[in-house]
Amino acid sequence: MRSLAARLQAQGKSVINLAAGELVVDAPDALRLAAVRAILSGSTRYTETVGMPELRAALARRMAAQTGLDWTPEHIAVTAGAKQALFNTAMALFDEGDEVIVPTPHWTTFPAQIRLAGATPVLLDTAGSGFGLDAERLRSLVTPRTRAVVINTPHNPTGHVASDAELAGIAAVALEHGLWVVFDQCYADFVHEGHRHVSILTVAPQLRARTVVIDSFSKSHAVAGWRIGFLAGPAALVSAVAGLQSHTTSNPSSIAQAAVLDLLNAPRPDMSQVHAMLEQGRARAVEALSAVPGVRVQPPQGGFYLYLNTSGMRLADGIASARIPHLLLQETGVAVVGGSAFGDPGGLRLSYALPADELAEGLRRLAAGLCQLGAGRA
Ligand SMILES: Cc1ncc(COP(=O)(O)O)c(C=O)c1O
Repeated sequence: MRSLAARLQAQGKSVINLAAGELVVDAPDALRLAAVRAILSGSTRYTETVGMPELRAALARRMAAQTGLDWTPEHIAVTAGAKQALFNTAMALFDEGDEVIVPTPHWTTFPAQIRLAGATPVLLDTAGSGFGLDAERLRSLVTPRTRAVVINTPHNPTGHVASDAELAGIAAVALEHGLWVVFDQCYADFVHEGHRHVSILTVAPQLRARTVVIDSFSKSHAVAGWRIGFLAGPAALVSAVAGLQSHTTSNPSSIAQAAVLDLLNAPRPDMSQVHAMLEQGRARAVEALSAVPGVRVQPPQGGFYLYLNTSGMRLADGIASARIPHLLLQETGVAVVGGSAFGDPGGLRLSYALPADELAEGLRRLAAGLCQLGAGRA
């Protein structure tokens, strides 16, 4: 959708992009200046494959503060974004014949990477439980081949934030069956009022030997293009990841590493404006789309996406729900992501992480377009 939207824009068509997977704001000044300083002061050479030792140490301290457990640099691998952290984890842990359970709807990349590693994704439906993580359902999918479960909280695309009780349930199943937990917390900084992000390792520290925490600066600090993230897990896994990374990409960008190190050593930048923008954006999006006939809206608890269920829409004969995003883009000039990308053809994801006036226009177009399609008009 992103490339289609860009093509239409290049042809002079007005398109509001609600399909983006990142904050549409500038990165904090302090971070951008740190990157400039890094270039000027010569941070331009190869670093150690899985990150500068000082950065790994700073990330270990951050993990310790977050989980209350001991972490050392040997537990940390710095990667080109969370995507590489996830990919390297999949390659290191999964083999042909393994099954990996993925709650669904799911971020597109999880099952794709599991397949790339030769394993089989097994989808755990969460739509029936309001996107909650149900330990009994998880247990029912475990077989002797099950190797891991992928938990993402706050969740892309549903906005679900896993509670302590949900995580305790998942942890109990993982411990019972010796499963690995891949715990993706890339959106942890964005949790709406009334909710809080909790690490599965805080709830179940005994899972430590089989948990890989995946994190990133892409979303939290609006530097998705810099490609900087990390994983934290057992030292043997980090060592396997280092081996793989040394023969694929080598170190992630030295400039991004140096800038993020500065960030971690300084007081946290003020992101309150971004948080206020997201609270407002969420309220506006929920309000604008709740009134659309046939569309079910579940207010997100975290992240910056609103996930719609369009299966109640009465589409004209011959129009499949998978076509909705294309029709919306062509007819009303608004880009959203269809649920097929998340293993859920009846869903639709939009981002509310963009400036208020752009969001307002995008929501106006989207609501009008959905009303028109739902009234049986193409
Ligand atoms: C759940 C989730 N994990 C990981 C990523 C990848 O982030 P990065 O830019 O750090 O590779 C994304 C990006 O959309 C995501 O939504």
